[in-house]
Amino acid sequence: MQTRLKELPIDLDRERLPRHVAVIMDGNGRWAQRQGLPRIMGHRRGVDALKDLLRCCKDWGIKALTAYAFSTENWGRPLEEVEFLMTLFERVLRREIDDMMKENVQIQFLGNLSALPQSLQGEIQRSMTKTQDNNGIQFNVATNYGARQEILQAVHAIAQEVQEGKIQLDEIDEALFSRHLYTANVSDPDLLIRTSGEMRLSNFLLWQMAYAELYITDILWPDFDREQFHQALFAYQQRKRRFGKI
Ligand code: IPE
Ligand code: IPE
Ligand code: MG
Repeated sequence: MQTRLKELPIDLDRERLPRHVAVIMDGNGRWAQRQGLPRIMGHRRGVDALKDLLRCCKDWGIKALTAYAFSTENWGRPLEEVEFLMTLFERVLRREIDDMMKENVQIQFLGNLSALPQSLQGEIQRSMTKTQDNNGIQFNVATNYGARQEILQAVHAIAQEVQEGKIQLDEIDEALFSRHLYTANVSDPDLLIRTSGEMRLSNFLLWQMAYAELYITDILWPDFDREQFHQALFAYQQRKRRFGKI
């Protein structure tokens, strides 16, 4: 357990922190395999890394954190690994809910939740309801999330509203479309962090990430700590965000 650097490091500018940080927590399996452990041990350690990042975001004044926990493509993994992950999510949620209340965390899940095991769905609903009035930090967990699936379900919902005469074709704009995504009440990420060195988005927040700053590190997710996060924020603050202007 590292020391808890509660204060924002002095080389970071509080006024220019990203409002919303998204993370692709990749490399759990490789982390475990490198030490001769089964892949699932990497997922266990990955939970600790996420827990610490959430605390750190809260301590340093970041308003929203979105973590990619399970993609629509991850169902294609061996059954034992998928089952382990589903059980892990449920156990961790049950275990962490009191701490999240104490830390004033509002948790929300993004994705097609109806395809998750019933008992996990129950735990998800309970945690979202219980924390809905918390306002310390917004914590979004993308679970059975795929950006293409998200976009398609938005298209279906909008088409249906047009068909039923509830909206007109020319009312479909970026704002309306955004309101039909799982992230309807979440601002777009300012910074995306991906661990384990892979240079891809893996179907994560494709619409929302249009102007996110990308930060990719070779560190494997279970080793991503406050110092690593500090480095990511420092790199972010060196960037010049132009949004297409000059
Ligand atoms: C990310 O780590 C966690 C999930 C996808 C659930 P991986 O399990 O993808 O680890 P690597 O990429 O195989 O090392
Ligand atoms: C992305 O990691 C999904 C999560 C972190 C949950 P993957 O390991 O599934 O991505 P790919 O397969 O390397 O693109
Ligand atoms: Mg991976």
